[in-house]
Amino acid sequence: MNRVVVGAQWGDEGKAKITDILAQDADLIIRYQGGCNAGHTVVANNTTYKFHLIPSGILYKNKICLIGPGTVILPEYFEKELNELLSQGVDVSGLRVSPLASITMPYHTEVDGYSEDNASKGKIGTTKKGIGPTYTDKMARIGLKIQDLYSEETLNEKLDIILPLKNKQLTEVYGLAPYSKDKILELCKKYAEIFKPYVWFDWQKNLENAKEQGSSVLFEGAQGVMLDVDYGTYPFVTSSNPIGGGACTGSGFGPKMIDEVIGVAKAYVTRVGEGPFVTELDNEIGKKIQSIGHEFGVTTGRPRRCGWFDAVTMRYAVLVGGLTSVALTKVDVFDTFDEIKVCYAYRDKRNGKIYDAYPTDVFMHKYLEPVYETHKGWGVNVSGIRSYEKLPENCKKYLTRLEELIGAPISIVSVGPDREQTIFKVS
Ligand code: IMP
Repeated sequence: MNRVVVGAQWGDEGKAKITDILAQDADLIIRYQGGCNAGHTVVANNTTYKFHLIPSGILYKNKICLIGPGTVILPEYFEKELNELLSQGVDVSGLRVSPLASITMPYHTEVDGYSEDNASKGKIGTTKKGIGPTYTDKMARIGLKIQDLYSEETLNEKLDIILPLKNKQLTEVYGLAPYSKDKILELCKKYAEIFKPYVWFDWQKNLENAKEQGSSVLFEGAQGVMLDVDYGTYPFVTSSNPIGGGACTGSGFGPKMIDEVIGVAKAYVTRVGEGPFVTELDNEIGKKIQSIGHEFGVTTGRPRRCGWFDAVTMRYAVLVGGLTSVALTKVDVFDTFDEIKVCYAYRDKRNGKIYDAYPTDVFMHKYLEPVYETHKGWGVNVSGIRSYEKLPENCKKYLTRLEELIGAPISIVSVGPDREQTIFKVS
């Protein structure tokens, strides 16, 4: 069984926990896009582990965890994350890094920081981890890949092309200092050492074997469908493809090799950074969700914006994300709520026009307001419940209604951060 786990909202949906559980059945776990902009928390055996780039499946023994070709890697951050896991006693012998993954260079983070700090208009609210600039260079064909670190000749040839362009851009566009070739070569030497034990040079043979032997693969997405560079709230998006389809381009596996795409969504919605968010609650209810749900970023520590569940974007995520089912997380956050709202359409404040399909021109979202239906809360602590049947009736009604609205079954319900606090709905 080959499965993809995709964020179905604006990231931070609790993918890490779902990935961690599904990783038990997988032989190979592949992170297929993004970089250390992601922040994943996994609680296992009373210990909290924080992941940014390394697949959380590393917590299991005898699994290969690959940082895939579609990712971008900030070497210093990779090293930091690795050392943190090692200090927690995690065995990282299954960790592999694709030689085709892209490297985030210091000038990428500088440009990301500069662009964010100096944007009077059009600020994206990025994580400043150089994600956008690294993918920009990859697409412009002036990026460095992990494999380049191990060939002096390639590195020299590439840098002779890249550096004059890069330095012109750094100095003339951004007013930043240029880089000498010696400095970059020195950095690359250091990076080569950091990655050396993990680079999967013989990946082709290994992937062929995995395919032939029918190994189970889990594809781990980062961010979420609404942050996808093609389908999300562009330009307030990340620079990669978190959608289900991204698993193919970012891993080297074909579409026919994927059996399931599980979209992870919260029972409400959160967003960090700028960009439209129609169901955002800038009030006490939003603060209550933020406080009960501990909605603060793992990577940046920023408080997350919170709002009611948005079935309009979720239906869209099911469509373009290729979701075959949904894992709904943080359902327990609503235990003390008398009423729970769900947005099933948008209304244009200017003319009353109703949208039940997601309007993709996000610059028009300022004119939209959510149209809600209200559900009764369940007033029971569900965090100890382990079977779907035992959930309170109002909770089940709420879940059934969500399934109708989004057009996909809810296969997993998460009622707390721990691995055990997970309910599998058998249909
Ligand atoms: P970037 O990925 O750092 O370029 O940031 C682009 C947008 O994606 C910003 O709004 C970030 O806050 C958002 N973003 C990036 N990674 C994550 C994540 O893992 N969770 C939630 N939002 C994210």
